[in-house]
Amino acid sequence: MRKNLEYTLVSPSWAEKLAQFFNALVVNKDDLYFHPHPLNGEMAKKIATHEGDDLYFLQIKDNEIAGYAMLRGWDEGYSIPSLGIVIHPNFRNQGLSIEFMEFLHNQARAKGATKVRLKVYSNNAWARHLYENSGYSFTNEENGQIIGYYEL
Ligand SMILES: CC(C)(COP(=O)(O)OP(=O)(O)OC[C@H]1O[C@@H](n2cnc3c(N)ncnc32)[C@H](O)[C@@H]1OP(=O)(O)O)[C@@H](O)C(=O)NCCC(=O)NCCS
Repeated sequence: MRKNLEYTLVSPSWAEKLAQFFNALVVNKDDLYFHPHPLNGEMAKKIATHEGDDLYFLQIKDNEIAGYAMLRGWDEGYSIPSLGIVIHPNFRNQGLSIEFMEFLHNQARAKGATKVRLKVYSNNAWARHLYENSGYSFTNEENGQIIGYYEL
């Protein structure tokens, strides 16, 4: 099935829509599970103008932000980037995250990474299912979150 998805780095022209996207997550209480940084307009602006090695991406469907994800850690000097992903509540359960994960893995590989890591709350069944399907193996637990690794 063709999903008409596009991918782009977050750029200043997306700042306003990204702020609205963050707000929709907060309204939906997704910040309980997804809190890589504050989910507000100020942060949206910061990300849209970010300069550095860390990568912040949008998954676009019909000119709307369907998903947001990041590969970060490089700015702090780590060689294994940490992946974070979230799909807008209105776009969930359509298989978008699986496709986004593939895109993110390709981007990490292109930047020379050999592994990607992520953290997920052990009670976040939906996300765990996604990561297990995407080939992650989980190791240790840190403050209620399990750490998963994917070999690129
Ligand atoms: C986790 C998340 C990214 C999944 O995105 P999504 O696009 O809705 O997921 P998909 O449609 O690609 O489905 C992924 C799998 O989850 C399954 N799924 C769908 N709804 C589900 C539900 N309510 N509970 C459990 N699994 C469900 C799908 O069937 C699919 O499995 P399959 O490949 O075996 O068919 C999305 O739910 C989300 O953004 N959650 C909030 C933020 C979050 O938790 N991020 C991860 C932090 S680590």
